Amino acid sequence: MFRTTISKAARPTLASAQIPRGIRGLKNINFGGSVETVHERADWPREKLLNYFKNDTLCLTGYGSQGYGQGLNLRDNGFKTIIGVRENGSSWKAAVEDGWVPGENLFPILEAVKRGTIVMNLLSDAAQSETWSQIKPLLTEGKTLYFSHGFSPVFEKLTHVDPPKNIDTIMVAPKGSGRTVRSLFKEGRGINSSFAVWNDVTGKAEEKAVALAIAIGSGYVYETTFQKEVYSDLYGERGCLMGGIHGMFLAQYEVLRENGHTPSEAFNETVEESTQSLYPLVGKHGMDYMYDACSTTARRGALDWYPVFKDTLKPVFQKLYASVRSGAETKRSLEFNSQSNYREELNKELDTIRNMEIWRVGKEVRKLRPENN
Ligand SMILES: NC(=O)c1ccc[n+]([C@@H]2O[C@H](COP(=O)([O-])OP(=O)(O)OC[C@H]3O[C@@H](n4cnc5c(N)ncnc54)[C@H](OP(=O)(O)O)[C@@H]3O)[C@@H](O)[C@H]2O)c1
Repeated sequence: MFRTTISKAARPTLASAQIPRGIRGLKNINFGGSVETVHERADWPREKLLNYFKNDTLCLTGYGSQGYGQGLNLRDNGFKTIIGVRENGSSWKAAVEDGWVPGENLFPILEAVKRGTIVMNLLSDAAQSETWSQIKPLLTEGKTLYFSHGFSPVFEKLTHVDPPKNIDTIMVAPKGSGRTVRSLFKEGRGINSSFAVWNDVTGKAEEKAVALAIAIGSGYVYETTFQKEVYSDLYGERGCLMGGIHGMFLAQYEVLRENGHTPSEAFNETVEESTQSLYPLVGKHGMDYMYDACSTTARRGALDWYPVFKDTLKPVFQKLYASVRSGAETKRSLEFNSQSNYREELNKELDTIRNMEIWRVGKEVRKLRPENN
């Protein structure tokens, strides 16, 4: 649907990248036999959005990946946007570096929530739970509560986050990192996001969610529920998006090394060729196209082996989905990420990955790419 590459000359400037008009609108699309409604940004040109939110102060609590991406896009689009983070924490410093001004559009969390009419809770999921008892009383009638993940309200028993029943509560979940939310916006493109409504008090909650999705820089938006979003998101990132693919890379690499292949050969046959040559083809044109673009030998082997991988891995995916549904993954995440030293502990684990032979080899292989010479 989108071009995955855009030539530098064709890349619009930031001003022209801001929510273009007249590209696409609301559509019913047949996704492999199921018709779903997709909202596209043509329905919400920038002037209409600015008018829609003219009386609102968009308060983003948290300045991690999403706070950064959504916050800067909203600010560039001209909305009254403020950030709320812990004073003098690393997010505070990052926000100042990005031009947010203390006392003007950068405040301590509770002060920002008091000032906001639309409270966009982009603290880490663990911090949403930790701070909820202080934030909830400030969510007075007429305000809107916004999340970018179904995590906190869906797992209320664990998080204790219970959105007030007298205000609209909505979600816009960009399907990618906040860094991508920002970079696609700057390129004049837009991330795809899902949206959902938890409480609709005003009768306008859905419309507001779609409008906010476009305002933060989404290209198109599809509907989900808080539950479906959190289950699919936690499952996906533990599976094919991150954990599963990492595990598969490691397993393939280790077997090559155990059989006497050099590190560079093992890396090239595992990571470099997949990420640089084959996966981009899957992204651009689909799996069948990628098969068709490979040799008859490669094709025959892959056609024979993909069912073996699927059948072997499916029970693992079933176990993973059950672990997500039961709340076990949420409990683990809350416990780990609520520790005061969670960043140090995370860094230790990332160091282990950084120091694995495969990823050290990757560093050298990347240097050899002609564009990096
Ligand atoms: N990242 C993604 O790719 C992505 C994609 C879609 C949706 N989401 C959702 O978006 C939301 C935000 O995620 P994120 O990745 O942007 O942020 P994050 O890295 O998970 O959270 C970072 C923010 O939380 C603050 N924080 C952490 N512990 C805190 C505490 N105890 N008290 C107060 N503040 C605390 C940090 O401030 P300090 O710097 O002061 O510690 C920082 O501003 C989450 O609901 C997430 O699930 C994320």
